[in-house]
Amino acid sequence: MAKEDPVRYVCVNCGFSTVTRTGKCPLCGQWGTLEAAEPAGARSDKYGAKAEVVSSVSVTPPKRLSSGIHEVDRVLGGGLVPGGVVLIGGQPGIGKSTLLLQVGGQVASRGTSALYISGEESAAQVALRAARLGVSSEKLLLYCGGDLEDALSNVRSQNAGLFILDSVQAVRAPNETGWPGTPNQVRAAAQLAVDVARAANVPAVLVGHITKDGRLAGPMLLEHMVDTVLTFSGEGYSSHRMLRAMKNRYGNTDELGIFEMRENGLAAVEDKSGLYWNRSDTAVPGVAMTIALEGSTPLVAEIQTLASPTAFPYPKRTSRGMDLNRFQLLAAVLEKRAGIPCGGCDLYLNVAGGLSIQDPSADLAACVSLASALKDKPLRSECCYLGEVGLAGEVRPVTRVMARLKEAERLGLKRAVVSGKERGEFWGPKEFTGMKIQRVDNLSEALSDVF
Ligand SMILES: Nc1ncnc2c1ncn2[C@@H]1O[C@H](COP(=O)(O)OP(=O)(O)OP(=O)(O)O)[C@@H](O)[C@H]1O
Ligand SMILES: [Mg+2]
Repeated sequence: MAKEDPVRYVCVNCGFSTVTRTGKCPLCGQWGTLEAAEPAGARSDKYGAKAEVVSSVSVTPPKRLSSGIHEVDRVLGGGLVPGGVVLIGGQPGIGKSTLLLQVGGQVASRGTSALYISGEESAAQVALRAARLGVSSEKLLLYCGGDLEDALSNVRSQNAGLFILDSVQAVRAPNETGWPGTPNQVRAAAQLAVDVARAANVPAVLVGHITKDGRLAGPMLLEHMVDTVLTFSGEGYSSHRMLRAMKNRYGNTDELGIFEMRENGLAAVEDKSGLYWNRSDTAVPGVAMTIALEGSTPLVAEIQTLASPTAFPYPKRTSRGMDLNRFQLLAAVLEKRAGIPCGGCDLYLNVAGGLSIQDPSADLAACVSLASALKDKPLRSECCYLGEVGLAGEVRPVTRVMARLKEAERLGLKRAVVSGKERGEFWGPKEFTGMKIQRVDNLSEALSDVF
C-alpha cells in the first residue's frame, strides 16, 4: 500500500479507529480486531455531506482536568482538556520527566488515575525519582517499556484519566519499520497516542526531544498533530525553568510559567517580576530599569551598558539579551538626535540575569542607560523607563502600559518615564499613589531630566 494513501483501521470490537495498523487494539486490548475501513482510493460514505451553519453546532465547553500545578494549568489555558494532546519539548536534562511525574502525582492524588509510560527509563529509575519528589499516590500507574501498543492498552484497561508518554522518540510503533526515534516511527507513535487519547477521551501529554537548534526532533508535522505544544527551557547556569505555550488550540499562548529546580522537584516561582532584578542601593552609571512583558507577565529588566574609549578605528559593539542591530540603531539615534557622541567608544550592553528582550518597549531604557554610561553619571534609582524609540528620536507608546506601571508600583519603584503620546486620563494621582509618572516626547527630553 502506498504511504501517501493511508487506510484507516477500525476495531470491530470497540470501534477504535486509527491510521496505524496494530495487531492488538490499543484501546480494548483484543487481538486481530482491526479491519481496514476505507480501501485506498475509495470515497468515504460522507461524500456529499452538507456544510453546517456554525452557530447551529452545539458546543459545550470542555470540562478541564487540573494538572494540580497552578502554573502548568495557567500555561495550558486552564488545565488539561479531555481528548486533547499536549506535546512538551525541551533539552535533555531540563526536567521534562520531573515535571510530568509531578503532574501525574498531583492528578492521581486528586483521585484520577494517571498512567505514566516511560520508554526511556526503568521502573526503578522512575520510582527513585518519584520517591525523591515525594510522589506516592496509589492511582499513579507506571508502564516502563518500548512497546507502545501494549503500553496504550493500559489506558482503557486501567481506566486511566490521563496518560503521559515519555517520550515519543523512545517507543516503538507497531508495523512501522525503523528504529524508535526515526521520523516514521515518531509520526506513527504520536498518531497512535493521539488516536487513543481522542477515542478514550482522556488528556495526554507527550514528551518530545528537541534538536540542537531548538526544534522538536522527528517529523515536522508532529506539532500539527497535537493540540498544544509547550516548550520547557532554561539556562544551564540557572535553576530556573520556563514553561511556555508555542501553540494552543484551547487557550492563548501568552502565559509564562517559571519554576525553580530543587532537590525535591520543580517549585513554581510565584513572584516572577522581580526575578531578574537585583535590588541595589548604590546607583551605578549605565544601569536603567524597564518593565518588559514576557507574554502577559511583566518582568523588571535591568539594562546595563558600558562604554570604554577605544584606540581602534572601528569601535566594538556587543549586546547580550537585546538584538545587536537594535542596540547599534539606538546608539546611532542617541548620537544623532540627542547629541551624545559614542563613536570613540567600545559599547557593551547586557540584560542582567540572562533575560532576553524582544519587546521594543526597552528602547528608552537602553538609550538612557547608554547615555548614562557615556557621561559616567548614574541615573535616578528606583525609576523605570518605558518607551519605544524611533529614528527621529521620538519616544513612542508601549503595549499594556497600565499593567507594566502597576507592576513597577507594586515593586516599590518611585518613578516611571513614559511616552507623552501614551493615551488616556488613567494616570491621575489616584491611580498611582506611590509613583510619579513623567511623560516625555523625545529622547532629549528624557535625558534633560537626568543630566
Ligand atoms: N538528586 C537531585 N537533586 C536535585 N536535582 C536533581 C537531582 N537529580 C536530578 N536532578 C535534576 O533533574 C534534572 C533531570 O531531570 P529530568 O530527568 O526530569 O530531565 P528530562 O528533561 O526528562 O531529561 P531527559 O531528556 O534526559 O529525559 C537534572 O538535570 C537535575 O537538574
Ligand atoms: Mg526524561
